[in-house]
Amino acid sequence: MRHLLDPTDLTVEEVEFIINRALDIINNKDLYAHACEGKKLATLFYEPSTRTRLSFTAAMMELGGNVLGFSDARSSSVSKGETVADTIRVVSSFADIVAMRTTKEGAPRVASEYSRIPIINAGDGGHSHPTQTMTDLLTIRREIGRFDHLTIGLCGDLKYGRTVHSLIKAMNRYEGTHFVLISPEELRLPDYMKQELGENYIEVMTLEEAMPMVDVLYMTRVQQERFADQAEYERLKDAFILDEEKMTMAKKDMIVLHPLPRVNEITVGVDKDPRAAYFRQVENGKYVRMSLIYTLLQWREEEKCAQHEVALTDHLCQNDRCISVTEPVEKKAYVDAEGVLRCHYCDHKL
Ligand code: NCD
Repeated sequence: MRHLLDPTDLTVEEVEFIINRALDIINNKDLYAHACEGKKLATLFYEPSTRTRLSFTAAMMELGGNVLGFSDARSSSVSKGETVADTIRVVSSFADIVAMRTTKEGAPRVASEYSRIPIINAGDGGHSHPTQTMTDLLTIRREIGRFDHLTIGLCGDLKYGRTVHSLIKAMNRYEGTHFVLISPEELRLPDYMKQELGENYIEVMTLEEAMPMVDVLYMTRVQQERFADQAEYERLKDAFILDEEKMTMAKKDMIVLHPLPRVNEITVGVDKDPRAAYFRQVENGKYVRMSLIYTLLQWREEEKCAQHEVALTDHLCQNDRCISVTEPVEKKAYVDAEGVLRCHYCDHKL
């Protein structure tokens, strides 16, 4: 059975298919109004969310399906100590597909191993957020028209920002992609992500340096909830602020993206600039989720098999945010393309 746990669970061809279907939905909404009639989406949100959960809900409703679930772990049996594995076994009896958001990295992968229905990762800790990436890709396609030969600036919290990690993995598969990384020293991209990039990136210290180079500027919020030390968050939270003056240094046809919510990192004055695409990006999120839900349910019916098999061995993960540290799951690892042993759940180097 196919799940969407990581953006690279979809091949480049499959990404193309999902994006094209999303474009078709935008142009022919009525044709899809009953596409998922009689089907149920369970939204299991263990972590706060506004747009992602509502976007999934709206997407399923516009496909003619129904939605059930919870938006706060305190109102579910998790608060009684239930494991992800048990929760998902139960939910498999009630729904046809799941969208789940967790603080624990790798929890959606654990869920997929016990589930009888497709699992969509709607964000797991600082690890991955594939449906936001599909939203970003649809926006890039609609705004710029291509995925190749683009310079992408990523600004803000590159350490904990799961949207950044997933976007890098997805965009790095296209020819001529370059990344400009803009972050404070303390919030730099983790080494395991830099390895993915090889030679395809530079790090700069200021937004001013990056502005003239980028075709896409991906702004992100400093992820307060992932800081152990709140004083450190206060010191770093306003490190980079995009304003109208900095926009004058950018290319005429670049775009600014942001997964939202915005805190201070983009001034409201930038919103009226036609290159500010972040509110258009939100709408694309709904259409791409419609395309994903419909397609995963179809693939399930066709029993299409997973493309990516990994070699697994026993291991103990050192990442204290990883699900395998707190729940009694089988300890597993895999060897990546560079020969590095990584955790099966959160991808950290072992
Ligand atoms: C992002 C997330 O949850 O990772 N938001 C979203 O899904 N639209 C970004 C963030 O919270 O900063």
